[in-house]
Amino acid sequence: MLNNKHIILGITGGIAAYKSAELARLLIKKGARVTVVMTDGAKEFITPLTFSALTNQPVYDDLWTSRSADSSSIAHINLTREADAMLIAPCTANVTAKIANGLADDLLTNLALARDPANCPLAIAPAMNVQMWRNPATQRNIAQLRNDGVMVFDPASGEQACGEIGEGRMLEPADLVDALERLFVPQNLTGKKVIITAGPTFEAIDPVRGITNRSSGKMGYALAHAAACAGAEVLLISGPTALPTPFGVTRINVESAQQMLDTCLHHTADVFIAVAAVADWRVTEIATQKIKKQNDADVPTLSFTQNPDILHTIAQQSNPPYCVGFAAETENLAEYGQTKRRKKGIPLLIANNGPATFGADDNEVLLLDDAGEHALPRMSKSQLAHQLISEIAKRLSS
Ligand code: CTP
Repeated sequence: MLNNKHIILGITGGIAAYKSAELARLLIKKGARVTVVMTDGAKEFITPLTFSALTNQPVYDDLWTSRSADSSSIAHINLTREADAMLIAPCTANVTAKIANGLADDLLTNLALARDPANCPLAIAPAMNVQMWRNPATQRNIAQLRNDGVMVFDPASGEQACGEIGEGRMLEPADLVDALERLFVPQNLTGKKVIITAGPTFEAIDPVRGITNRSSGKMGYALAHAAACAGAEVLLISGPTALPTPFGVTRINVESAQQMLDTCLHHTADVFIAVAAVADWRVTEIATQKIKKQNDADVPTLSFTQNPDILHTIAQQSNPPYCVGFAAETENLAEYGQTKRRKKGIPLLIANNGPATFGADDNEVLLLDDAGEHALPRMSKSQLAHQLISEIAKRLSS
């Protein structure tokens, strides 16, 4: 979503300005072109040189010099005309107040005011002392900005540079990068609740051993991120993975298939997407103590019980959500996939080659529904996730 996007990164005078160096770096890593604009306050915390070195672009910091340096180029107009979005991070209480009230007394606030909102949306990541954040004046300004169509990435809570504790900390750079993608995604799941299962399950044998599989969870996590970007309230029910929770997603960790099912049944949703690679069997009796090795001839024998089918159980409820399944196959994708879709009683199934996708960063899938099959080309799991979410939203609205 951020690849080839031109982002104006505004930096104002807060201690969180040091985090914006990492933010600029992460945006560039995602393929964005970043132009940094700094206020005088920002330069008290971090130098323009840091950002020009990171972005390989000149840093803009003065309304008047940028005008006089080249009279044909008016920075406060031209910069946003060439940009796809503007993000101010950190955004101080002072700059929040100025933008909310249409004040423009430096380059950054001029840019915010002179922007065409349809072509260059604005997002801000406020960062300030907890009392400044809670002050009714700040809250009025934030509400006004939201009303004006500015996306506000609410600060997190925690220990502050001043030693006080509370909300006001700027979001972490990785979360801001995740959040910024929302500016480029159609909000076609606004008001919808989405539950996604992801990762493998872990079926214990004894307190130290278990059976699991090679699912990394990447596809499920990418879908959770894409659904949140599209405006949905997302609950991710995840087996053990090493992945960070996508920004704006609520995550519940589970281990076994039974725990995953119980957790799913405790929540309701408009859409249920089963991406988890659920273990088909569990050990019938989990040993309460570690099974000790005996002599060579005495190898333990395990007996197995079939796990519940989570997707099928959810799809058979009296008023089920729109259910989407994944099928990990090794051959005959379309045929096996359609059979599986009908057996599970679900409207949409996404079939892929299991071993070819486990742990990979890209995937190639076949969409199977009542209308037949529709192949999507190979793409990154993150691009695919956005595309699948828009396919799901399309089917949901029809
Ligand atoms: N699934 C589930 N609960 C299970 C098994 C699978 O919810 N106990 C879901 C998966 O999350 C996926 C879909 O069902 O969305 C298909 O999973 P897959 O492993 O491909 O198929 P199975 O139903 O397990 O059938 P088989 O292993 O025989 O192909």
